[in-house]
Order: sequence, then structure tokens, then C-alpha cells
Amino acid sequence: MTQDQYKVVEVEGDKSSDVVWHQASVSHQDRETANGHLGAVLWFTGLSGSGKSTVANAVDKMLHDLGCKTYVLDGDNVRHGLNGDLGFSDVDRVENIRRIGEVSKLFVDAGLLVSTAFISPFILDREMVRSQLTHGQFVEVFIDTPIEICEQRDPKGLYKKARAGEIKNFTGIDSAYEYPIKPEVRVKTAEQSVEACAKQVVDYLKDNGYLG
Ligand code: ADX
Repeated sequence: MTQDQYKVVEVEGDKSSDVVWHQASVSHQDRETANGHLGAVLWFTGLSGSGKSTVANAVDKMLHDLGCKTYVLDGDNVRHGLNGDLGFSDVDRVENIRRIGEVSKLFVDAGLLVSTAFISPFILDREMVRSQLTHGQFVEVFIDTPIEICEQRDPKGLYKKARAGEIKNFTGIDSAYEYPIKPEVRVKTAEQSVEACAKQVVDYLKDNGYLG
């Protein structure tokens, strides 16, 4: 290991202040070139039951079929493992998104098109993840489904429980959802098929030079 492969990262007051950053031998650019497309996070945000996971998985399949290197990080799944210690207080949601932001960054660095499906209700947290990536690497996809429709769908019966007071801090009922102001893509699942919604996202990537 040569000395110049290390760069000291100085973060005052941070636990990692004595940790050095190891420069990778294969660069991000090398990985993107090998993959034949850019790396980016497709950040799906929206209410519970809005269709985030469904559309994210449909986008993932379309991109995979196009030969892209992809992955999906889904709130319901990640909360069983990495974020299994977190609940739904505002503080825990912030930490949930912070961790996912960090994991997404790694996937993007690996040159993948990673789709994340988390309610991610707070603008500040979503913008924090955006600010940690290079311009264009954060694509906010707002799954814009009215709460009435989400509640009607209620795929997991959670709205019913929230209305009955059996679940506290439920997004859209007694916990806030801050609507994206200028998302890169706005998808209306109540008005279009899953395929059409997914195509809208893939078309955005095509039109903006992500897919080479
Ligand atoms: S986030 O707000 O922290 O981004 P995340 O996307 O990880 O939430 O998890 C949301 C999923 O957890 C929902 O789809 C739902 O299945 C489940 N859930 C359980 N309790 C709640 C709650 N109080 N509010 C929202 N979703 C909840």
C-alpha cells in the first residue's frame, strides 16, 4: 500500500477524524464506463400505499432488461435489517433516511442505478441526500397519489389501524408529509398504469443522457 493511496479525512468532532480514506484503484468513472450508463439514485418518495415500491420495481425491471446494473432499496425491507432498530418518530425517520442516503451513495459510487422506495416525508432530509451527491446523481421521483386513494387502497390495512388509533405517527394522518417542490419526475399512479408510470421515469433517464 503506498502512502498516496491514503487521504486523511479531517472532520472536527467526528468519530472518524482519525480514519483515513482509502483511494480506490477502480474509479467511479471506470465503473460507469464498464456499465455503459451513469450511476444515480432514483429517489422515490410518497405516502404509504402511493405505489413507490411497485413503480420502483417496474423501473428496476425495465432498466435491468435494458442491460443496466441496478438495485432496489425498499423501506419495508430495509427496516427488517439495517434499520430494524428504528421506529417512526421524526428523529427515527431522519436517521432512517440518513442511513439510506449513505447506502445509496455507495451504490451510486459503484456506478449503479439504485431505486430507493421510502416515504422520506421531510424535504430537508431528501435535500440532504441530494446535496451529498454530484449534480444529476439524485433524481427525485414523486409518487403523487392523493391520500384518499392511498387510504382506499390500504394494501397493508395500516390506514385503518391509524384511523382507529392503533398506530401512532402515521404519515398523512398524524405525521407530516412534505410534498416535493420541484421533483425531477412526478408520477400519478391514480391516473396511469404501472407500466406507463415506470416508462415515464425511464424516459427521463433516456432523455437526460443517463443511459449512454
Ligand atoms: S420513512 O418515513 O421513514 O421514510 P419508510 O418508507 O422507511 O418510512 O417505511 C414506511 C413503511 O412502514 C410503510 O410503507 C408502512 O408499511 C410501514 N409503517 C409502519 N408504521 C408506519 C407509520 N407510522 N407511518 C408510515 N409508515 C409506517
